[in-house]
Amino acid sequence: MKVAKVYEKNVLKFDEVEKPAIKNDTDVLVKPKFVGICGSDSHIYHGENPMAKLPRILGHEVVGVVEDKGKAVTKLAIGDHVVIEPIRYCGQCYPCRHGQPNVCENLLVFGVTEDGAMREYFTIGEKQVLKIDKNLPWEEAILIEPFTIGAQATMRGDVGVGDNVLIIGAGPIGIASLKLAKIKGAQVMITDIVDDKLEFAKKQGADIIVNSKKTDLIEAVKEWTKGEFANKVIDAACSLFTFELCLKVVSKGGTIVCLGFSTEFAKISPVSITGRQITLIGSRLQAHQFANVIRLMEAGTLRGNGLVTHKFPFTDLQKALDFIDARPEQVRKALLEF
Ligand SMILES: NC(=O)c1ccc[n+]([C@@H]2O[C@H](COP(=O)([O-])OP(=O)(O)OC[C@H]3O[C@@H](n4cnc5c(N)ncnc54)[C@H](O)[C@@H]3O)[C@@H](O)[C@H]2O)c1
Ligand SMILES: [Zn+2]
Ligand SMILES: [Zn+2]
Repeated sequence: MKVAKVYEKNVLKFDEVEKPAIKNDTDVLVKPKFVGICGSDSHIYHGENPMAKLPRILGHEVVGVVEDKGKAVTKLAIGDHVVIEPIRYCGQCYPCRHGQPNVCENLLVFGVTEDGAMREYFTIGEKQVLKIDKNLPWEEAILIEPFTIGAQATMRGDVGVGDNVLIIGAGPIGIASLKLAKIKGAQVMITDIVDDKLEFAKKQGADIIVNSKKTDLIEAVKEWTKGEFANKVIDAACSLFTFELCLKVVSKGGTIVCLGFSTEFAKISPVSITGRQITLIGSRLQAHQFANVIRLMEAGTLRGNGLVTHKFPFTDLQKALDFIDARPEQVRKALLEF
C-alpha cells in the first residue's frame, strides 16, 4: 500500500509498504475515505511547525471505514463509517485531571507528533475512533475535526446568547468558530482582508462582515456594539498584528480567545488587561468536542455548505500542497480522496 511521508523540509515522498495488521486487541484498522489538508499540514511540510518532528506521515482530519478490528473492540463493527479524534493523552497529569487532555503533559497528536492518515490503511486505538451515521455525506463528515476547533474556541470564550462576538479571520477556523458561535446564540461580526472569504462568511450566517483593508475595524466594532466593543474576540488570523488588535476591540470584562502558534513576541501592556479586567485565554485543538459536533452534523444543524472547495486524489498530494501555496485565496478546504 502507499504511504505519503514528509522526510525533511519541503521533501514529500510516496513509499510502498505492507498493509498494517492489528497488533493490540483494542486496535482498529481504518481505510481512509477523505483526509482534509489543514494549514498545519502545510506548515509541517515547510518545516515550520515546532511541535512536529520529521519524517512524518501527515493527516489529522480523517474519515474512513473500519476494515478490521481487534478482539477487545466492542463499540465498532467492520464497515462502520468513522472519524478520528487526533489526540492521545495519559489521563494522569494535571491538565488531564482537570478536563484539559488536549494539553496533556504526554500529548500525542495524530498526523502531527505521531504518524497520521495520509496512507491507504492505518491502525489506531479504539478510543480515537468515533462512529458516524452512514447517511452523513463524507464531504460533510470530513469537517467534523475543523468544526471541533471552533467548538473549543467558542467554549473557551464562553460564547453565548446576547454576546457580540468578533471573529478575526474567515479561513476554515474562523468559519468554524462563526458557525458554532451562531449555534450558541451570539451576534457575530467577522473580519478578513479578502472579500471572497467575507462573502462566504456572510452566507454562513455572519451578521456583519468587515474588510479591514477598506474599513476601520475599530470604528466598525465600536459602532456595531454602540460603544461597548466586542464581548468575545476570537483571533483566527493569528498574526502578531491581530493578537495585539484583540485588545483594541474587546469590551470591558470581555474575553479574547487566542488560537495562534507564533513564537514571536507581541507588545501588550499589563494595564490593557487589568484595567478592563480582560480574560485572555488560549484554545488548543479540542477536548470533549467530538461527540457534540458529530451530533450537530448528524442533525443537520451544522453543515459545511461549500467550505470544501477542492478535491485531489491521494496520490496528487504534492500537487495539492503546491496549489494551496500558490492560490491560498481560492482554497477554503482541500481534501485528499482515497
Ligand atoms: N489553536 C488551535 O487549535 C488551532 C487549530 C487550527 C488552526 N489554528 C490556527 O488558526 C489560524 C487559522 O487557521 P485557518 O486554517 O483558518 O487559516 P487560513 O490561513 O485559511 O485563514 C486565515 C484567514 O485570516 C485572514 N487574515 C489574515 N490577516 C488578517 C487580518 N489582519 N485581519 C483579518 N483577517 C486576516 C486571511 O485572509 C485568512 O482568510 C492559523 O494560524 C492556524 O495555525 C489553531
Ligand atoms: Zn486541521
Ligand atoms: Zn495527561
